[in-house]
Amino acid sequence: MALPPSAALGTPLPLPTRSPDMLHRLATRRSAPAQALMDPGPSDGDIDTLLTLAARTPDHGKLFPWRFVVLGRQTRADLAERLAVMAVEQGLPGKATAVLAKLTAAPTTVLVISTAAPASKPVWEQELSAGAVCMNLEHAADALGFSSSWITDWYSYDPDALALFGVREGEKVAGFVHIGTVAEPPLERERPDVSALTTTLP
Ligand SMILES: Cc1cc2nc3c(=O)[nH]c(=O)nc-3n(C[C@H](O)[C@H](O)[C@H](O)COP(=O)(O)O)c2cc1C
Repeated sequence: MALPPSAALGTPLPLPTRSPDMLHRLATRRSAPAQALMDPGPSDGDIDTLLTLAARTPDHGKLFPWRFVVLGRQTRADLAERLAVMAVEQGLPGKATAVLAKLTAAPTTVLVISTAAPASKPVWEQELSAGAVCMNLEHAADALGFSSSWITDWYSYDPDALALFGVREGEKVAGFVHIGTVAEPPLERERPDVSALTTTLP
């Protein structure tokens, strides 16, 4: 699906307009179970679109404190095999191996890496921006008609596993965003009572 032509630096962008379609999607969107994601997945052109949209995310100071690794099926299958060995060697519970099914199922996975480091803006704000990139990526996938799942799991925190994924010293995994198509509609889950979480001041 073609994106509007990108605007030149400093030119005015369209003001927001009411979008029933976007409201409907925001009100009914749900993650897919990662294992349920199947073909069709995004084409190479779709992936370019997804990353272009995900990168249109607020970040304080224009530091762009994140990067993407697009993980195809073969790479994830190979990595899952090595992670399974690592899980046994480290004496991790069986669940650590079982959850690798979430890593390998989807047609496409985008690993979003936070590259936050001490700079002109707080590290916390840079990390928040990486989380927002993941969410924007999910919204973009939804807009292209795909389902998605934002996963971390143990290998996002294990130093040896991080090295396998090419996550460098000082970087962190913001999420593995798995993208594909599901056969069954997702079921609504519990949502918070927003009023209990909200303070409104005059
Ligand atoms: C930062 C982050 C990490 C997550 N890590 C995992 C995970 O390791 N395993 C998992 O099954 N789901 C993980 N999830 C997904 C959630 O458990 C759940 O699928 C999601 O929040 C559902 O939200 P939704 O119903 O609004 O789409 C993670 C979500 C976020 C935001």
